[in-house]
Amino acid sequence: MTTYDAHFRVWRGDSDGGDLKDFTVAVHDGEVVLDIVHRLQATQTPDLAVRWNCKAGKCGSCSAEINGRPRLLCMTRMSVFARDETVTITPLRAFPVIRDLVTDVSFNYAKAREIPSFVPPAGLEPGEYRMKQEDVARSQEFRKCIECFLCQDTCHVVRDHEENKNAFAGPRFLMRVAELDMHPLDAAEETGLDRKRTAQDEHGLGYCNITKCCTEVCPEQIRITDNALIPLKERAVDRKYDPLVWLGNKIGRR
Ligand code: SF4
Ligand code: F3S
Ligand code: FES
Repeated sequence: MTTYDAHFRVWRGDSDGGDLKDFTVAVHDGEVVLDIVHRLQATQTPDLAVRWNCKAGKCGSCSAEINGRPRLLCMTRMSVFARDETVTITPLRAFPVIRDLVTDVSFNYAKAREIPSFVPPAGLEPGEYRMKQEDVARSQEFRKCIECFLCQDTCHVVRDHEENKNAFAGPRFLMRVAELDMHPLDAAEETGLDRKRTAQDEHGLGYCNITKCCTEVCPEQIRITDNALIPLKERAVDRKYDPLVWLGNKIGRR
């Protein structure tokens, strides 16, 4: 096993402010950045705050930014950095800092609550649902989400624009709307709920200009933009400019 000394800069502070602190710390072969944070806690900074749980890329807790890129601390191998490279760890930029590397991500839970859940078809009992494999596969891809919120953190619509947060649900939750809108058994429309309209009017679909940054940082490799956001935009536009819908709205307004 080889060991070397690496140079780290770690943001330390709280909601009142803070700054980067320099550390030299030993790194062993095969380690990930979270191992180094734990070594810092064990040897130099016992009060360094970091959120983590599974250390296996599945709980979505250890999200932070490494050299400015949103990443999971537990899934970022030290071998991706040159040995003489300074590794800078900062908290997620789009959310308020609680302390050190821990941010308050409750914005995301608030957005999750704003999306009406799946509406099962009336009269269909559990176990009677039948779906095509392609529809199952679509939902399964979206449901790989571990709620790390790296996509929410990186999207430019809110990353430096706190003022957009009210109007924009973010890629993770627009993906949820898309999943439900494309679900062949979702009966929301029969109850008067138009998911395409709410995606535009309430969840800010129009703010997304398909930069695909969300897709690039997703640790589950979910094709958020291509498979959720673009199809949802197309469906919303089809609905908006459907001549029958237009005529129905005209007649309805009289
Ligand atoms: Fe994380 Fe991907 Fe889910 Fe976004 S879609 S919260 S990046 S797992
Ligand atoms: Fe943002 Fe992803 Fe759209 S990064 S702009 S939600 S494609
Ligand atoms: Fe669970 Fe990193 S500790 S995803």
